[in-house]
Amino acid sequence: MKDRIEELKKRFANELSGVSDQKTLEDLRLAFLSKKGQVSQLMQELAKIPNEQKKEAGALINSFKQEVSQKFDEKLSEIRKMEEQCLIDSTESYDESLPENIRRGSYHPISLVQRELEGIFESMGFDVEDYSEIVDDYHCFEALNIPKFHPARDMQDTYYLTTPNQLLKSHTSAAQNAIMYKYGKLLKENGRPIRAVFPGRCFRNEAIDACHENTFFQMEGIMIDKNISISNLIYFMKTMLSEVFKRDVTVRLRPGFFPFVEPGFELDIQCLICGGKGCSSCKNSGWLELCPCGMIHPNVLKYGGINSEEDPYEYTGFAFGLGLTRLAMMKYQVKDIRTFNEGDLSALSQFISC
Ligand code: DAH
Repeated sequence: MKDRIEELKKRFANELSGVSDQKTLEDLRLAFLSKKGQVSQLMQELAKIPNEQKKEAGALINSFKQEVSQKFDEKLSEIRKMEEQCLIDSTESYDESLPENIRRGSYHPISLVQRELEGIFESMGFDVEDYSEIVDDYHCFEALNIPKFHPARDMQDTYYLTTPNQLLKSHTSAAQNAIMYKYGKLLKENGRPIRAVFPGRCFRNEAIDACHENTFFQMEGIMIDKNISISNLIYFMKTMLSEVFKRDVTVRLRPGFFPFVEPGFELDIQCLICGGKGCSSCKNSGWLELCPCGMIHPNVLKYGGINSEEDPYEYTGFAFGLGLTRLAMMKYQVKDIRTFNEGDLSALSQFISC
């Protein structure tokens, strides 16, 4: 038995030295260690030898078996390392001193303006909310005090889906009702004022030209608490716009009609180019129309679950609708609104930051 094992050891060592790939190694392993392999055969032979020799022979077989599997493991890791090295050696070499040539994408100008505004509002304690583009008639109009057949609907003709009652939202105000429900409980139970902005893409059935698009962006904002008044609205808008334009701005309010605010205003800023004297940018008026706003209508607060029928003025609030597309046009001096949706990268990739 001893001689048999010695002979097998030599054979194994000999064959192992010639192995250089995993497949051949596996064949060799099977030849020695599988059920029908050499080691199993030795075990069968063990049964036939005299009892007094069995113990020693058994120990020899076991140590041979261990030696074989250990050598097998060593060889396997050696082959793996070798294969890895081959792979490294065969990869294309590169020169790390060459200048980089990565054609990076760029942010869309609307995204840039939107992100900047979100940062400003967040610093003022506002939550930034997302809202769907497909809404129902109730949220887009009725919850905003625009009943069916109200003439104010004419200005916001939009795209209706074949699914009954579904449409593409014509303004970000469509999210007001949902935001009131989302934060109303915190307002009433914890006294946490509702302060939220919700940017979004809006749609209208427009005849497209340099100033009109069927797809554009707005950012709506609302603030609701006890004792919110027009003074808060003016102070807040002025502070916010000074941040946006990075200098002190003079604002004025003109009356404006929107069914969901009462009173409603058009907020103008004094022209930043001529300082109010009149120039071509402000059509010689000295003012630029920027942001419609107003005190939220009691009906809208009622539909939003904020105030009860008995006390319609318990909470008050203001709302505003910033035209993000318009703001981007002003900031970047973009003359044609269609630039934003055309997808022409040579134009869009020029906007790096606000
Ligand atoms: N949703 C209006 C529009 O798109 C804009 C607007 C006006 C929003 C007055 C407001 C507001 O929040 O108070 O025409």
